[in-house]
Amino acid sequence: MTRPLTVVVLAAGKGTRMKSDLPKVLHPLAGRPLIGHVLAAADTLEPTRICVVYGHGGETLPKAIARDDVAWALQEPQLGTGHAVQQALPHVDMAGDVLILYGDVPLIRPETLQEMVLIAGEGALALLTVKLADPSGYGRIVRNARGQVERIVEHKDASPEELAIHEVNTGILCLSAAKLAAWLDRLTNDNAQGEYYLTDVIAMAAAEGERILPCHPSAEWEVLGVNSRAQLAGLERRLQGNIAEGLMAAGVTLVDPARLDVRGSLECGRDCLIDVNCVFEGRVVIGENTIVGANCVIKDAEIGAGVEIKPFCHIDGASIGADAIIGPYARLRPGTELAEEVHIGNFVELKNAQVGFNSKINHLSYVGDATVGRKVNIGAGTITCNYDGANKHRTVIEDEAFIGSDTQLVAPVTVGRGATLGAGTTLTKDAPPDQLTLSRAKQLTLSGWKRPVKKQSDK
Ligand code: UD1
Ligand code: CA
Repeated sequence: MTRPLTVVVLAAGKGTRMKSDLPKVLHPLAGRPLIGHVLAAADTLEPTRICVVYGHGGETLPKAIARDDVAWALQEPQLGTGHAVQQALPHVDMAGDVLILYGDVPLIRPETLQEMVLIAGEGALALLTVKLADPSGYGRIVRNARGQVERIVEHKDASPEELAIHEVNTGILCLSAAKLAAWLDRLTNDNAQGEYYLTDVIAMAAAEGERILPCHPSAEWEVLGVNSRAQLAGLERRLQGNIAEGLMAAGVTLVDPARLDVRGSLECGRDCLIDVNCVFEGRVVIGENTIVGANCVIKDAEIGAGVEIKPFCHIDGASIGADAIIGPYARLRPGTELAEEVHIGNFVELKNAQVGFNSKINHLSYVGDATVGRKVNIGAGTITCNYDGANKHRTVIEDEAFIGSDTQLVAPVTVGRGATLGAGTTLTKDAPPDQLTLSRAKQLTLSGWKRPVKKQSDK
């Protein structure tokens, strides 16, 4: 049996410097709220329970996160970090340990937390500290002559000698729940800010001879918090840089790793190439040897191997078979399923359409609610008229049909296998297989017709 673990996430603060109506921890980082990253890191520890302390912004936060496996503790008013943790105590399993995290410190790595949980499991207090070139604003770690952690002094309460200390408190700690509860009981707000400091429990622990083991993050960015939009943007670049490094390590060529945005998960096979300024959202999976041209936005898509996506495509909720060629300027909307070797060209929009092997829709077309067979050729400017103002209807185009340019297919309608539609046809009834169908006014020429001549004005 492993020891029970409660993760407490502090997120009640106001976030004044964000200058925002949205609670700070709901601001997105890589497309997910800041606190979503923290909860995801907490989830990897498989804790007995997670409790979030909220306050500023009221019910907005619990509503937005909408997780019924998370306990919510309201802190109102906000009297400091120690007071905040106290509000969570009713949700804490007192037989185990507590790990304290922050809703605005999003990049903390599960590996770092795992190490701290192990230390606490062995009966010590794990405290995450870091040496900063510029420690100003942070609580300083005061050690005794033997190098053991003695207490934490907040910047505003520190003496000049203490201000010279570069080792700072990240705020993240893991310790016995029962001991924490007892120490929190003895906190006072007798300090420069008149707050109940969580950090004061360190001096109490040291005085009782508790083993305090400082841990350190693998990199500074793990413990950076977000207080302003500039810091948010800084962490966004850092996270994107990490994602880019992972992709390159997996064999993906990024033409410029600084110009890639992944707001979800992106899985790529070897030898994919991603050109500059592409945005990936939701879950995107790309097969080997696929090229994504510059300036594409791709969301919730499955893309096969050897596909070429030319620049400026927008793909959402689509699957693309191997060796297809898409774009430039194509828009694939939800429900688009393209088989292998399909060609979709410029200014073509597809929605809820299945397109069979090696079919081509190369120019200026809208194909929605349609089933298109194999080796079909759809000419420029073809439109499926799928919507009658009330209901959507399907268009079926069977294998090897040829749709002439500027055709409207008024659904529900079927074009038979091998049928040809003449250019400019407005198809309102099914077209039989293997024959030419067209609807077109007869062409005529008026002999002797003269262009009008402009009248001479009388001067
Ligand atoms: C805190 C630490 C400091 C550490 C620093 C790291 C204390 C007393 N100080 O200082 O040693 O170096 O973090 O960033 O703990 N919060 C609440 N309720 C409150 C107050 C704060 O939920 O009543 C939350 C905030 O939303 C925030 C976090 O706790 O996420 C830290 O609060 P903040 O006021 O920023 O603490 P610092 O003064 O930065
Ligand atoms: Ca802070």
